[in-house]
Amino acid sequence: MPEPWSQLKKSILAEVKPNGRHHEEISAFIVKLKVSLKEALRKGGVDADVEVHGSVARDTWLVGQRDIDTFIVLRHGSGRRDLLRVNEVVKGYTGEGWVEAYAEHPYVKKDIEGFEVEFIPCFKAEAGKGFASATDRTPLHTAYLQPRLTDALRDDVRVLKAFMRGIGVYGAEIRVGGFSGYLCELLVVAHGSFEALIEAAAKWGEHPVVELEKGMDSKFKEPLVVADPVDHNRNVASAVTETALWTFVAAARAFAEKPSERFFKTTPHNASGVRARIEDRGTDLLFVVIPDDDPPVPDTLWGQLYRTEKAIGRALGERGFKVLRTGSWSDEAKRHIFVYELESIALPPVMKKVGPPVRLTKESGDFLKTYLDSDDLVSGPGVEGGKWWVEVKRRHVFPRTYLRKALADSYEELGVPKRLADLLGVDGDVYINEEIEGELRGDFPAYLDTFLRGRPDWLV
Ligand code: CTP
Ligand code: MG
Repeated sequence: MPEPWSQLKKSILAEVKPNGRHHEEISAFIVKLKVSLKEALRKGGVDADVEVHGSVARDTWLVGQRDIDTFIVLRHGSGRRDLLRVNEVVKGYTGEGWVEAYAEHPYVKKDIEGFEVEFIPCFKAEAGKGFASATDRTPLHTAYLQPRLTDALRDDVRVLKAFMRGIGVYGAEIRVGGFSGYLCELLVVAHGSFEALIEAAAKWGEHPVVELEKGMDSKFKEPLVVADPVDHNRNVASAVTETALWTFVAAARAFAEKPSERFFKTTPHNASGVRARIEDRGTDLLFVVIPDDDPPVPDTLWGQLYRTEKAIGRALGERGFKVLRTGSWSDEAKRHIFVYELESIALPPVMKKVGPPVRLTKESGDFLKTYLDSDDLVSGPGVEGGKWWVEVKRRHVFPRTYLRKALADSYEELGVPKRLADLLGVDGDVYINEEIEGELRGDFPAYLDTFLRGRPDWLV
């Protein structure tokens, strides 16, 4: 291993690897949790084991990460009704303050003594025998990894997670669309070390497939394929978007060439110059701000936000605006902001429209009727090749009024989720360039700064 790599790994691990005190704190908490939860389940008439899985069980968690993935494993012969029963017992156990969340089926979360505890009911599963619910695989993940993870590999998993986090692609949640903890573990196991993975990823070509076991076929279409060794029908990397994949490849390449701590840090952004930067830019920025007092859970929310971002971008494009780049920001509590960088907010005054083929008699008649006496007509109708054309004045379509009205009237057509379209129609607003000033608070200015810079922090 080249010297700078091992030095660097040491200094990253000094920050992200839990020490003895961290371990004792978490173990003591888990012992207490298991005993008391088991007792509560027994009293509630639920026959189940309590097991902690995820990165805590595998000893691959990062300092500061506080989630305890607690699985309540129902015995053979239990049904879906028992899953719901578990949730009721858990709510009684945690008392006030629980939150019900949904993956494939509902589960309960609560902050207890500074830990984010997730109580996930599942059925006992065995490899190769199919799964009754999506969470049943997790205990098998732990069983698969435990004998394969050495201390050195655990260190490397932590370094990889920190790397992914630093370059902004850690996590399978919709907002990130990146690499889950389990995926990081598998990638390190498959390649034998952090370094080997980085060297390999730097050379990944089209549609990379990483195989943990020989002969696992790759029928998956997603950008990155890593079949789950405990369930060959599932792609562990299914959440990884093209952007996340290729960000990782680009970062791996840059890191392999010149390792640096830069890749593991998110630099705080200086957002004070944002206004000046907008003014000098030469493009126009259009912002759509939607206040939202009651947003759904993050995965649902970000699904809606990304769909809205695309739909509005498409609507702008169809209306003649040249959209260079788009982005979404949200505080996930009160306010969402979409950013569109347009070549220009001013549209050219005249546009050409191509009409129907002359050979179609009826359509030609309709076209001529529409345009011959139109006030908007600048030139034509004429024939070019086989078709009619006209040049018409562009009606004054200013996105501000256009967007609010278009969204309120036809969200379905545009593909904007109804909830957000309704909110936009009521309270939403559209700002152009420095008009956004009043919204530059919270961490939106930092987001905007990153958007305007465009270049990842690690790329120098
Ligand atoms: N899991 C999964 N697929 C997901 C999410 C989770 O298979 N999309 C399983 C994995 O076995 C994972 C466990 O559930 O290890 C716990 O999930 P999570 O807490 O999200 O991941 P961790 O591996 O614990 O990683 P982290 O350190 O980020 O908590
Ligand atoms: Mg976890």
